[in-house]
Amino acid sequence: MPDPTLFAAVKDPANRPNPYPLYARLREAPVARQDDGTYVVTTHAALRALLFDPRISSEDLPSTSHPRTGNPFKDWIINPFKDHVRTKHRPFIFRDPPDHDVLRRHVMREFTPERIRAMHGRVDGLVADLLDRRRDARAIDLVDDFSYPLPVTVICELLGVPPEDEGRFHGWATQLATALEPDARQDEAALGRNIETFDAIAAYMQDLIKDKRRHPKDDLLTGLATREDPQAGRMGDYDLIATSILLLIAGHETTVNLITNGMLTLLRFPAQLERLRAEPEIAPRLIEELLRYEPPVHFRTRKALAEIELAGTTIPAGAPVVLLFASGSRDPARFADPDRFDPDREDNQHFGFGGSLHFCVGAPLARLEAEAALVALARRLRNPRLLDDPPPYRPGASLRGPEHLRLAIDGVSPPDA
Ligand code: HEM
Repeated sequence: MPDPTLFAAVKDPANRPNPYPLYARLREAPVARQDDGTYVVTTHAALRALLFDPRISSEDLPSTSHPRTGNPFKDWIINPFKDHVRTKHRPFIFRDPPDHDVLRRHVMREFTPERIRAMHGRVDGLVADLLDRRRDARAIDLVDDFSYPLPVTVICELLGVPPEDEGRFHGWATQLATALEPDARQDEAALGRNIETFDAIAAYMQDLIKDKRRHPKDDLLTGLATREDPQAGRMGDYDLIATSILLLIAGHETTVNLITNGMLTLLRFPAQLERLRAEPEIAPRLIEELLRYEPPVHFRTRKALAEIELAGTTIPAGAPVVLLFASGSRDPARFADPDRFDPDREDNQHFGFGGSLHFCVGAPLARLEAEAALVALARRLRNPRLLDDPPPYRPGASLRGPEHLRLAIDGVSPPDA
């Protein structure tokens, strides 16, 4: 059995730049029990088995009750009411069938391939604008100048969030994304901040949804708020708010890491950067390899609904389970030479977008944005060099990516050069 403190080491920010040797040690057992009673699932085969196992639940969010304030009116009336309302706003990433499937169907009806394809030209335009603004720069921060604004603008436009409100989501999204980090769930202060943030963003969304119903537009939120599903009817208001927040946050916190991790990796393997510049048609396969080799989402948590026997380990009913996707994507039993970045890799069944019934809804959009971004960066940044390697990382171990990526450049070429 591997050392039962290895997952604590994975969560330790000191290991953020390179958690992969820890994953290799954890993989000595496909399911590794940790000191705190968590079961970490690390091999490709064990992850696949559990992703399709109905005894594994995504309903593992802790209850979010306000801490006592000492004010009886707040403690007995206002806050319990708010807590009750909040528990009804459970996004479908944290739900099991049948509710999950109904809500997801509503979203898929709006998140159509046509709607995503229609974003193509707009994404190329945004990429070009962001780079044009840095024409004469000698240094850029890829995160602040490019990888963050691109997906945020795209998801806001797709949903129909007015551009003047975009800035408000930065802090909200960063805060709420901590709900995916196991340690933040145990931390009272972090929970309190999440509650406040959730209340603020939910109030904003409620107003926006009312506005969409009064003045329908051709955007995803209008579709969700007004159209009926032939089988499921209209989405209820609590679910509508929770779903729109989920889409907004998922659109903020993940694609930024794919673009930034992507450029970081390409700068570490300059021959691949050069190749992408000369042969942009390799981009789709290169992006799949990035999703395997440096994925934006390293793990997701679950709960065992019943006792589960897997690969020689018994996971007890009720135990917290970590699906360590990034480890499965580097499993030598599934991938030849898994620690090698190889954009020519075939049969690349990675877990970058998860799998099974919670497979990422935004995958086609994320792929489209990453392709437009990385091809343009490869072609237009003149002589890019990493100023910090490793770069500083954001705190998250699950949603893992650089906080900043400072590059020295000799300016930015015009789009058609
Ligand atoms: C590179 C970018 C992205 C990555 C790596 C990524 C990764 C993932 C992963 C691993 C899951 C599975 C979660 C689980 O099993 O619990 C997931 C689910 C999800 N993603 Fe993404 N995602 C990305 C971008 C997006 C975007 C842009 C959106 C929306 C606009 C989005 C929306 C969602 C939603 C709604 C779910 C929940 C699906 C469900 O529970 O059925 N994602 N994503």
